[in-house]
Amino acid sequence: MTRRKIVAGNWKMNGSVESVVELVESIQANDAVDVVVAPSYVYLPLVAQSLTGSKVMVAAQNVSEFAKGAFTGEVSLSMLKDFSVSHVILGHSERRSLFAESDAQVARKVASTLEAGLTPILCVGETLEQREAGTTLTVCNAQVDAVLEEIGIELFEKVVIAYEPVWAIGTGKSASSEQAQEVHKGIRDNIARRSSKVAEKVAILYGGSVKASNSAELFAQADIDGALIGGASLDATEFNSIIESAK
Ligand code: PGA
Repeated sequence: MTRRKIVAGNWKMNGSVESVVELVESIQANDAVDVVVAPSYVYLPLVAQSLTGSKVMVAAQNVSEFAKGAFTGEVSLSMLKDFSVSHVILGHSERRSLFAESDAQVARKVASTLEAGLTPILCVGETLEQREAGTTLTVCNAQVDAVLEEIGIELFEKVVIAYEPVWAIGTGKSASSEQAQEVHKGIRDNIARRSSKVAEKVAILYGGSVKASNSAELFAQADIDGALIGGASLDATEFNSIIESAK
């Protein structure tokens, strides 16, 4: 089965009114690839407006697990829907490690994101210590399983997974295409133990120091269905080359 490639840019806490507009206007999408950009919350309306008529989709970098009310500083799913947001990045390692998000919390957010009709991009990945201890797949599959237990296998076909080894994020040191493929296959096999149909459908993106110089090799792997890109997504030339290499 050929799964459609997804190229998603995670802008993290970067940008300004001027720079985000310039960046979105420079993106060259094509019909063969789904392109998603994830600005900071405050720039979502501006980016969504700048993308009117474009095929490029908009993601949030996180969402509240609560629907509404006295939750100072939080942003709800219905607020994201007001601004045509289609995807939500959940469980990014920076959220897990710097803001103590638990597997259970991430799983609840995935469930409510699906319920709201948006697509969750569920990030999983091991630390360097876990890789060196040989527990990479155990860690990644436990993070996936926490979500599977919450939402069940049938709904899981709507989830996009991003495998992001923590040691590769923002370090310039990407996993090799073989290392990434091995984990992607291990994640897909784990899903296939519950449903081979769902496993075939689920898109698994790779993330961690993806650049124009390594994207084509990563995308050539059987179980790599695109990328979640941090640093290189802030550079229009780099990001456009990555999109082009996913065709
Ligand atoms: P990076 O970040 O491409 O800068 O390594 C990836 C991510 O955190 O999603």
